[in-house]
Amino acid sequence: MRALMNKIEQNAALDRVGDRLQRAVQSTLRPQRVRDLLHGVWLGHPLHPAMVQVPVGAWMSAAVLDLLPGQRRAAATLIAVGTVSAVPAAVAGLNDWAALARDQRRVGLVHAAANSVGLALYAGSLAARLRGRDGMGRALAYLGLSAASAGAYIGGHLAYKQGAQVSQSISELHLMADEWKPIGDLATLPQRELITREVDDVSVILYRHGDEITVMLERCPHQSGPLGEGEVQEIDGHACVVCPWHGSTFRLNGGEVVHGPSANDQQLLPTRVVNGVLQTKLP
Ligand code: FES
Repeated sequence: MRALMNKIEQNAALDRVGDRLQRAVQSTLRPQRVRDLLHGVWLGHPLHPAMVQVPVGAWMSAAVLDLLPGQRRAAATLIAVGTVSAVPAAVAGLNDWAALARDQRRVGLVHAAANSVGLALYAGSLAARLRGRDGMGRALAYLGLSAASAGAYIGGHLAYKQGAQVSQSISELHLMADEWKPIGDLATLPQRELITREVDDVSVILYRHGDEITVMLERCPHQSGPLGEGEVQEIDGHACVVCPWHGSTFRLNGGEVVHGPSANDQQLLPTRVVNGVLQTKLP
C-alpha cells in the first residue's frame, strides 16, 4: 500500500483531471464567505474531517444492523442519513482539496474517487431497499463500505503522511528552547510594519502597533508560505497579515484565522521587554 500511495503522489497523469476539477471547484465556490464556511475558518479546525463522521457513523451502524434480524427499516434509515450527509461533507472536502499542493491533490483525487464510488453504491443500496430488494441493498451497502474504507485509508495518508490541512507551522515550536530569547531593541522596532527575525532558527514576524507588539510564527499554517512577505490589511478594525501564497489571513493581535484556506489559527509567542530589549519564548 505504501508503494502504491507513493506512486499516486508522483503520478503526473492525474493532473489532467485534477487541474480541470480544481478550476471547476474554484469557479463554482467563488464567494470568500462560502469558502471560509466550508474550510472551517469559523471553527478553527478543518470542517471536512468533522463532517465525515456523520456518513461514516451511519454507514458503519447500518452494516451492523444488516447482520441482525428485524432491522431492515432502521438500516435503510441509516443508509439514507449517511448518503445525504455525505454530499455536504464531499463539498467541504473539495473546497479544501482545491487549495492543496500538487502531490496532495493527486492523492486527494483518488480519495475523492473512492468515496464517490462508495456514495454511488450506497445510493444504489437505498434505491434497492426502497423497492423491497433487501438482499441487493445489503450487497451494495457492503461494497459501498469497502469503497469508503479505501477512501478513508487514502484520506489518512493525505492528512497524516502528506500533512494536508494540518498546521504546517506548529511543529516549529519544537525547535525552540523553553527560555526567554532577545529579538531586538524595542526602540528600533518600527510602527505598523512587518519585520522578520530568527529565534533558534525559527522564523518569526514582529508587528508593533502603539505599545502592542505581536510576535508570530512566520510559516503559514496552510502550506508554509512566508507571512513575513505578506501584506498587512485592516479587517473589521483589526490589523491582519495576508499570506502571499493563497491568501490565508490572520489577525495580528490574536493569531485567529480570518480567511482560509487555512482553517487553523497562527501561533503567537509571548513577549516581554527587559532593559529596552524585546524578548520572546515558547507559549
Ligand atoms: S501557504 Fe497557503 S495560504 Fe499561506
